[in-house]
Amino acid sequence: MKKLIALLLAAVMVFGLAACSGGSEPAAGSASVIDEIKTAGKLTVGTSADYPPYEFHTEIDGVDTIVGFDIAIAQAIADDMGVELEIVDMSFDNLLMSLANGEFDMVIAGMTSNEERLKAVDFSEPYMVSKNLILVKSENADKYKTLDDLKGAKGGAQTGSIPYQRCVEYCGEESSVGLAKVQDLVMELQAGKLDLIFLDYMTVLTYAAVNDDLEAVDVNIPTTDSGYCIAVEKGNTELAEYINGVLAKLAESNAIEEFVVEAQQQAGMEE
Ligand code: ARG
Repeated sequence: MKKLIALLLAAVMVFGLAACSGGSEPAAGSASVIDEIKTAGKLTVGTSADYPPYEFHTEIDGVDTIVGFDIAIAQAIADDMGVELEIVDMSFDNLLMSLANGEFDMVIAGMTSNEERLKAVDFSEPYMVSKNLILVKSENADKYKTLDDLKGAKGGAQTGSIPYQRCVEYCGEESSVGLAKVQDLVMELQAGKLDLIFLDYMTVLTYAAVNDDLEAVDVNIPTTDSGYCIAVEKGNTELAEYINGVLAKLAESNAIEEFVVEAQQQAGMEE
């Protein structure tokens, strides 16, 4: 398993991005959003906890707990503000709508910033860049070598996700299935109802590492994405800038890499 952790770290080497942006102090305004969060005593964060090692459920001392490196980043932001972290878990597809409705302060969910999402919300600087892989049954791994091999294969991906767009693009609209929860996609794959699933790099590697019957395949899916970012309500520049400041500090101290390794171990990957 050593090799896998090394691979994962190779994927997260792209951090420096966040560091260069530097963090500016939030503008002093009369109705400071940060002050409001401090008064409330908690930072409320929306996520879809079905994406190891980003965010997922695990049992800690017999208690179901949401962990992952995204959660560690959110915790660092809350700590920086001196407030508690409150996690709201829901379907990935509903996160941005709920954020726009004011149900939480920010969203962290391995979410990639793109033009379409930017119409509804604002994003922090990216804290990581990655790409998509496919997850297949081990016995079928040899069947998929290039993007052309995906045509007509029964592909699955999470509803509302960028991997779903890739699935439609490469497997074809009629062969693509969108489901709300990643665990359900994995079950369908294991049951032979899907040929492959599109997910982000580290999630594919994690599922492949903890399930003997599954394998990660890199078919060189092109990336046009601008990296994983934290979403805030449209126009909430004060919070976005505050977050950028914390991300820059985390990048500088290599904390995010440590969060990734810890999350991998919690997800069941051995060192
Ligand atoms: N990176 C992909 C996207 O932004 C998928 C993220 C899925 N995240 C999750 N927590 N289920 O669309």
